[in-house]
Amino acid sequence: MPAFLTHEQLKDIADQFGTPVYVYHAERITQQYKQLTDAFTGMPVTFFYASKALTNINILKHIRSIGCHVDCSSINEVHLAVKAGFAPQQILYTSSNIDFSEILTARELGVHINIDSLSNLKKFAEKFGNSYPVGVRLRPNIMAGGNLKISTGHNRSKFGIPVEDVNAVVDLVNSTGLNIRTLHIHTGSEIKDVEVFAKGIEVLFELVPLFPQLEVIDLGGGFKVPFVPGEKGTDISLLAAKVKEEFDALEKQTGRRLQVWFEPGKFLVSEAGYFVTQVTVLKQSGDIRFAGVNSGLNHLIRPMFYGSYHHIENISNYNGSQLVYNVVGNICETDNFAEDRPLSEIREGDYLVFYNAGAYGFEMASNYNSRFKPAEVLVKHDEYHLIRRRDTIEDLLQTQLIVEE
Ligand code: LLP
Repeated sequence: MPAFLTHEQLKDIADQFGTPVYVYHAERITQQYKQLTDAFTGMPVTFFYASKALTNINILKHIRSIGCHVDCSSINEVHLAVKAGFAPQQILYTSSNIDFSEILTARELGVHINIDSLSNLKKFAEKFGNSYPVGVRLRPNIMAGGNLKISTGHNRSKFGIPVEDVNAVVDLVNSTGLNIRTLHIHTGSEIKDVEVFAKGIEVLFELVPLFPQLEVIDLGGGFKVPFVPGEKGTDISLLAAKVKEEFDALEKQTGRRLQVWFEPGKFLVSEAGYFVTQVTVLKQSGDIRFAGVNSGLNHLIRPMFYGSYHHIENISNYNGSQLVYNVVGNICETDNFAEDRPLSEIREGDYLVFYNAGAYGFEMASNYNSRFKPAEVLVKHDEYHLIRRRDTIEDLLQTQLIVEE
């Protein structure tokens, strides 16, 4: 089965379900997961899908069905994972700056927890001592990632306990018996360079002797996938070889065989997702050709928020002659999807597809301008399943309470 959807399939879906619509390809997710497990064969590795990338319950269920575990960034994501059928030991909760009550709930549910502040770690240690193994998220002071907004491991980042404060964690262990099972880092998103992961391992390995109960090194997510045609993603085979080399060396030196955890988000779902929009208005302004679509930054915020490139194709006139366009949305502020982009000639009514839309696409969508959020369709075994209907006007009012006049 090909690991991509054809223009014909995307057009059929747009005709059948309307636009704008997010389309996800189950087999592509499976293929990405297999690429990871194949590369790391023979190593004690577990992958936890970073569900923040895309939480539709049908996606979560598919992820579970292929044997992948799940990483959550809020207690609500934990509840969704439970609803999707994950067992507690398959669920990891890696939080940032959350109220301690969420950690209590996570503990009641019996899921793995990575704690990212001394404040919450202290509360946890005082309450539970050695009775519930936990992970600590450390800040490795490594600058990496596609852009500053998605770089999380540098020395001014809010994430984790700064690695230079690790002695405070050790003191807690000594005074309360706290069982630190996992050391965690997540250095950033879209990290192409395998050496960044190697540097992270180096930082954590120095700390291993401090934590006798340690069983797991959790290296977070952040594998890069190609967005621009011809671009290369993280070399997963090289990464696997490097990780194996480092962990084998640690075992040789110390006799300790640690498990490796990863939390990939984009790697699993980015390329499996397509966002199909329809051109509503063509407008010429001086030498600029605007193609306005029935969507905007409310549906796909990545270009405006991160300056991200999303490849676009005119699937209604793929073989048309090439012209240069600014592809823009219908929102009441500047919402460029692409500037000076060569595309096959666009007519009003044409379908434009945005690639790499599976991760942080629908998930970051909003109802800004009181627009409806897009529908979502899952393609599995070449069958189309509507997995989220488009909003209606009732949805916009659903949580509002009307004050009597
Ligand atoms: N683990 C932790 C603790 C994370 O914070 C993240 C992402 C991941 C794993 C997954 O990273 P990934 O494999 O997807 O790169 N909205 C941004 C990305 C923000 C990522 C936040 N944390 C974007 O659209 O690029």
